[in-house]
Amino acid sequence: MSGHILAIDQGTTSSRAIIFGPDMKVVAVGQKEFAQHYPASGWVEHDPEEIWSTVVWSVKTALKKAKLKASDIAAIGITNQRETVVVWDRQTGEAIHNAIVWQDRRTAGLCAKLKKQGLEPVFARKTGLLLDPYFSGTKIAWLLGKVKGARRRAAKGELLAGTIDSFLIWRLTGGKAHVTDATNASRTLVYNIEKNAWDAELLKLLDIPAALLPQVKDCADDFGVTDKKLFGAEIPILGVAGDQQAATIGQACFEPGMLKSTYGTGCFALLNTGDKLVRSRNRLLSTIAYRLDGKTTYALEGSIFIAGAAVQWLRDGIKVIGKAEQSGVLAAEADETQSVYLVPAFVGLGAPHWDADARGAIFGLTRNSGPAEFARAALESVAYQTHDLLTAMRKDWKGGANADTVLRVDGGMVASDWTMQRLADLLDAPVDRPTILETTALGAAWLAGQRAGVWPKAAKFAKSWSLDRRFKPSMDAATRKAKLAGWTDAVRRTLSS
Ligand code: G3P
Repeated sequence: MSGHILAIDQGTTSSRAIIFGPDMKVVAVGQKEFAQHYPASGWVEHDPEEIWSTVVWSVKTALKKAKLKASDIAAIGITNQRETVVVWDRQTGEAIHNAIVWQDRRTAGLCAKLKKQGLEPVFARKTGLLLDPYFSGTKIAWLLGKVKGARRRAAKGELLAGTIDSFLIWRLTGGKAHVTDATNASRTLVYNIEKNAWDAELLKLLDIPAALLPQVKDCADDFGVTDKKLFGAEIPILGVAGDQQAATIGQACFEPGMLKSTYGTGCFALLNTGDKLVRSRNRLLSTIAYRLDGKTTYALEGSIFIAGAAVQWLRDGIKVIGKAEQSGVLAAEADETQSVYLVPAFVGLGAPHWDADARGAIFGLTRNSGPAEFARAALESVAYQTHDLLTAMRKDWKGGANADTVLRVDGGMVASDWTMQRLADLLDAPVDRPTILETTALGAAWLAGQRAGVWPKAAKFAKSWSLDRRFKPSMDAATRKAKLAGWTDAVRRTLSS
């Protein structure tokens, strides 16, 4: 059997299909961006039909570029933007509303109400999450409550709900499978991560009928086969994981204490805590890193909503750069004597602050401040936020993220040497950039490939991880301390209360 594996990476701004060869190297990529819809302040939606059509287009394009047929693909692995939800008709497959995206803040009021009722501890204990609009549960509740006829149709068993992986699998299998994996389930706010089951009490609190939800499987499992009509042959879907968990796998962070941070639209740092469900006392999340052969591995997660999006803001918002790659070059030209801080709370702040109402702010401008200082402040804001996550992780799990912790990084921003050096300096910890930067897709492909028996198991796969460059901290302690103090003060002034 051919060892080619197809990874579908359905992200926040684009859909991608990446074909890996038997040697686990990238053979071909198909990629298409799609529209972001902002129907009201703080609302973010995607058109599920566009998500679907860009996925199909990307798969066909990748196959064509690789000069392969569907029958040459041993298996598919799916990875996806997490928390984003779709509710659809089980007969027609048609969505009843646009997908509500993870960044969407429309359920802030509902979260505040539940918090007021003293319910955050019960949600946190069972799901490892917090009451923030980020997670899927309140978004599903909104769809059922606000879309005309949805509640009635749900009661009659006409509707299904799921994260993007579930929606895609439903479509890919021609409506045969309503399934998800444990990592995606762990982001919904209605999944008990200790018991590995949907939680009846939480579903009741959010008024979500259990019948809408998919069956939850291991990350490497049988998720169904693609409808022959789509690509010309049936392809088994054997791997699924949320994109941050897939990156954790792609970075081979299989041992407790290993830490990765992905710099995409946002930044998500996951620390493998092994079979221990570590409860954060510092507003981090406990989540499922992966579930293989029925065995759950947990992670502590720090979620930052704006990382690469800050670079996009430099390019499209204030237009101080023409291309994302220029941000590091421009930042390097900045006047180091200026203390300009950007707090990119464009959609509120995630961990460890969880302030849905905060908005972005810039501090320390002088007559000399210009594009270079803005670029540096934007890139440094990502490093400062990572620092705050790591500090919280160190407090939460002394045995894990300690002084020796190495951070494995990936995502678009890590191509910038300047940014990675600044990250190492502000963290006071080494930062490792791997040779393969397609870690998210690789993680999904690995789940499917090893399940299909054509790729190696975990230990051998971990050995194939190779270092491109280690960035070692070189900033003097006094400078770092002063800079971090300035950042902490800037955040304090930005928080909404
Ligand atoms: O939790 C949201 C996350 O899955 C989105 O990832 O790559 O779009 O920043 P990304």
